[in-house]
Amino acid sequence: MNSITNNNLDLKGKKVLLRVDLNVPMENGAITEISRIEKIIPTIKLLLKKEAKIIIMSHIGRPKGKVVSGMTLKPISEKLSLLLQKKIFFSEDLVSENTILEINKIPNGSILMLENIRFNEGEETNDSQFSKQISTLGDIYVNDAFSCSHRSHASVEGITKYIPSYFGLQITEEINALKKITSKIEKPISLIIGGSKISTKIKIINNLIKKFNNIIIVGGMGNTMLKHTGSNIGKSVCENECGHLIKEILENSKKYNCKITIPKDAVVSTSLNGNGKEKNLNEIDDDEMILDIGSKTISDIEATINNSKTILWNGPAGYFENPNFQNGTKKILELITQKTKNDKIFSVAGGGETVAAINKFKKFNSFTFVSTAGGAFLEYLEGKTLPGIKALNQNV
Ligand code: 3PG
Repeated sequence: MNSITNNNLDLKGKKVLLRVDLNVPMENGAITEISRIEKIIPTIKLLLKKEAKIIIMSHIGRPKGKVVSGMTLKPISEKLSLLLQKKIFFSEDLVSENTILEINKIPNGSILMLENIRFNEGEETNDSQFSKQISTLGDIYVNDAFSCSHRSHASVEGITKYIPSYFGLQITEEINALKKITSKIEKPISLIIGGSKISTKIKIINNLIKKFNNIIIVGGMGNTMLKHTGSNIGKSVCENECGHLIKEILENSKKYNCKITIPKDAVVSTSLNGNGKEKNLNEIDDDEMILDIGSKTISDIEATINNSKTILWNGPAGYFENPNFQNGTKKILELITQKTKNDKIFSVAGGGETVAAINKFKKFNSFTFVSTAGGAFLEYLEGKTLPGIKALNQNV
């Protein structure tokens, strides 16, 4: 395994392309949660100590190969600069011939951040020309973004074909912790899955059914399950094109004896900033959206948590950013915390929104492990080899 901790790795004056995950939650241009920024600091400090020139690559959001002004990394570079107490140069343009000129200007032991790598068309398509182009910006490549390693993108996977590639400190810590935890897992195992990123996760549920005793589906995915099983969900966020998948999930849950729990009731409102009203599913109006789970659903979740020896959690139960819709998420957190402390069960949480909720309710030390990764965490649990990690292991 190629790691930047290798003492023989001389990086003085070398250009190190560092892929990190700075996909942090933002509201009206302000960062609302900084865990992912804090987690990359040890790797940056080590590279600075080795007197490297660090070129940071990251994405934020899903701009789909276009420049989207609200998805700039500029405020994040400023935050990182503040945390490190160090100037960070920022390259505002797409990757071009000029980028290398900008990089060549910075002194040893300094940092330059590239603008959102997903503004470039070739990033998400894992285009080989683009992968090659970004590889020419550095002498070595370091992946410290476990949470992006399930993506076969140019700055995660493609680049490793053209340049010596290394594991960073944060990715190593995440892999080691998850390896240890998954090898010790005790049944019954329950997964609580929620959040707003529905499209990729709904596919993953089908594979996880074979490994879990209970799957509790809340948040945006809960809405999707409700819609496709005949409930009116008003104008709630949901995925429309997945009726066949839901059918398969329900069939497989019977086949593999995995109990699926979906919301029985909800807290609804006509706007994200509004007040909540608890309703049974058959009472939801067309102009309302589901923004949290209701008390009957919380009781179901409590019963499942109490019967579990291992609990994995990814994705909040509602729009917890508004205190009117935080109850479900907060309650789940409290229940898992209590169970972890009293019964010494394994509890693992993962994902950007989940970490934000854990921080908001000050429960960071309540879990056996908290991963910064969401989608990557779930795919790891599926037993998949993540393309970003496979690529690093092949590049030796
Ligand atoms: C995440 O937030 O899980 C990672 O940054 C990956 O983001 P993505 O789901 O947009 O690829």
